[in-house]
Amino acid sequence: MTTRTLLLMPGDGIGPEAMAEVEKLIALMNETVGAGFTIERGLVGGAALDAHGTPVSEGDMALALAADAVLFGAVGGPKWDKVAYEKRPEAGLLRLRKDLELFANLRPAICYPALADASSLKRELVDGLDILILRELTGGVYFGEPKEIRDLGNGQKRGIDTQIYDTFEIERIARAAFELARTRRGKVTSMEKRNVMKTGVLWNEVVTAVHADYPDVTLEHMLADAGGMQLVRAPKQFDVILTDNLFGDMLSDIAAMLTGSLGMLPSASLGRPDDTTGRRRALYEPVHGSAPDIAGRGIANPIAMIASFAMCLRYSFGLTAEADALEATIAEVLDAGIRTADIVVPGIEPVTTGTMGDAIAERFRARLTA
Ligand code: IPM
Ligand code: MG
Repeated sequence: MTTRTLLLMPGDGIGPEAMAEVEKLIALMNETVGAGFTIERGLVGGAALDAHGTPVSEGDMALALAADAVLFGAVGGPKWDKVAYEKRPEAGLLRLRKDLELFANLRPAICYPALADASSLKRELVDGLDILILRELTGGVYFGEPKEIRDLGNGQKRGIDTQIYDTFEIERIARAAFELARTRRGKVTSMEKRNVMKTGVLWNEVVTAVHADYPDVTLEHMLADAGGMQLVRAPKQFDVILTDNLFGDMLSDIAAMLTGSLGMLPSASLGRPDDTTGRRRALYEPVHGSAPDIAGRGIANPIAMIASFAMCLRYSFGLTAEADALEATIAEVLDAGIRTADIVVPGIEPVTTGTMGDAIAERFRARLTA
């Protein structure tokens, strides 16, 4: 029988509540379709800091490196606002991304028709929106050295971050973008700031060169600021947006808001397939953060976490039919008017995290066993 190892790292805030709903689905798949998932558990972020004094322990890093996939909740919260920069909860996530070499971050922004009115944009601009932000995740200003605050000795300090991109880093993320575009509507928009940044000039050159291998895909270049403007002006013009680590961080938050709720969006962070095993390291996480203001109240929306699990089924295990079924179940539950507080509309009583999870599990079971 196949065994598939999942490392669950729920983290902080609403992470554990959302993860509990995914555990229901894992158990369900083991029971109904013999999916063979084995669960391991790890700590990350503030939870790891409290237990081990570090935002991710060496033991849990080893589990993450060995797992077939990592399911990640969220990290951070006011409790840890004052810890040293090196130990802040986010450092655990950044270490996972870096050590697992998860260079390709897929952030789909899909607007479910049932939620189009919850968008900050007019319904006609976002209804049916389906774009994919592909964010480079292991390079750029997040990791470039030097990265420090230097004392200049004259009463002044200097904060330094370094934006670095090498050819191979741009090449591999560009390939991923063109390959993903082939499975979608065949268009890539690459965003950088070549008008002010050398990394932008190189990014533009390398993406253009890689494009020669994908003549069937349309490539368009946009300055990242103009891209942000176009995202809120006419988001449906995009298919795949290819961009660097920092611009991707910002643009994906903008795209998320277009869809009506940050609580809805999943993401996948993928590495390179291993040369011998062909296995690709991967981590799946909701785009929303730890939301400490609502943590522990049972009102968080678990859909982004559940949709992240759907991406895991698709990209780590090739369980396409099951992934399709889970995504269709999410749309079905929304259509049925089942809403957590963040996406509720007048006239509907919001449900709890657990009720939303159960509603999805029940309908998912029906689809799996149909
Ligand atoms: C994200 C988050 C992270 C990032 C933080 C938590 C370090 O904002 O995944 O978008 O900046 O990458
Ligand atoms: Mg972000």
